[in-house]
Amino acid sequence: MQRRSQMLRQDGRSIAFVPTMGFLHEGHLSLMREGRQLADILVVSIFVNPTQFAPGEDFATYPRNMEQDRRLTEKVPVDILFTPDEQAIYADGCQTFVTPQALAKRMCGLSRPVFFQGVATVVAKLFHIVNPQVAVFGEKDFQQLTIIRRMVKDLNFDIKIIGAATVREPDGLAMSSRNAYLKPEQRPAALSLSQSLREAQAQVAAGLIQAEQIVAGARARIGAHPETAIDYIVIVDPETLEEVAVIDRPVRMAMAVAVGTTRLIDNMPLVP
Ligand code: PAJ
Repeated sequence: MQRRSQMLRQDGRSIAFVPTMGFLHEGHLSLMREGRQLADILVVSIFVNPTQFAPGEDFATYPRNMEQDRRLTEKVPVDILFTPDEQAIYADGCQTFVTPQALAKRMCGLSRPVFFQGVATVVAKLFHIVNPQVAVFGEKDFQQLTIIRRMVKDLNFDIKIIGAATVREPDGLAMSSRNAYLKPEQRPAALSLSQSLREAQAQVAAGLIQAEQIVAGARARIGAHPETAIDYIVIVDPETLEEVAVIDRPVRMAMAVAVGTTRLIDNMPLVP
């Protein structure tokens, strides 16, 4: 892959890159279509990265379907599908990690302390292997996008990071490979995330500016479903991810909620 990128660049061709963990859905495909527009060559990686899963998380059972993924990428079309195995990426284990600091110590970082180190490390490795001019990430994983932007700045990667809007099911559920774990009877509980975010948007548009009140409303709506367990619901500055008390500028509302054993995340902008 590294050699091919080198040759493409020598030929004067630009490279756009979309990293994924596969089990592709319309959200991933929208990132690819965006990447397609941004450069001559589109590279997509599929790699379920072991270092971003903690012991006891779903690394072993994470959904995989390489054949279906291959078919979906052909339709975009993707120029190069990069599917390294664990041996290729972590041949001798890993002695050197990229460890994001404050941005990784809040929100998802509190319940998943090794997650963003694993993400930042594998994305840095993939960036060095694929050597793109531009890479596309989803706003669905808002904290991840913020951390990658900051890593690129801090470590002087010469790569433009594009954030792409969240693609949702018709009923509002943010698309995710992990939605495959949901049982039909858990759907109303899963939908309470996007519903509470939309309600918050409407409240802010109508003039409510106290973050605490808006978060309390979301907690009540989601908590009404007994099979949910709220990990966090926050309203944060979109760059520092620090919580804001008063919504006097565009901010981000983000949440992680377990529905049964499935951990879901979602977020939306709040604009006063
Ligand atoms: P994965 O969860 O497969 O997601 C790959 C990319 O697709 C991410 O940038 C994610 O934000 C985006 N994405 C997921 N669901 C989306 C949706 N509904 N709408 C729009 N974009 C969506 O995120 C990862 O993999 C990994 O952490 C990775 C960055 C590949 C590093 O291992």
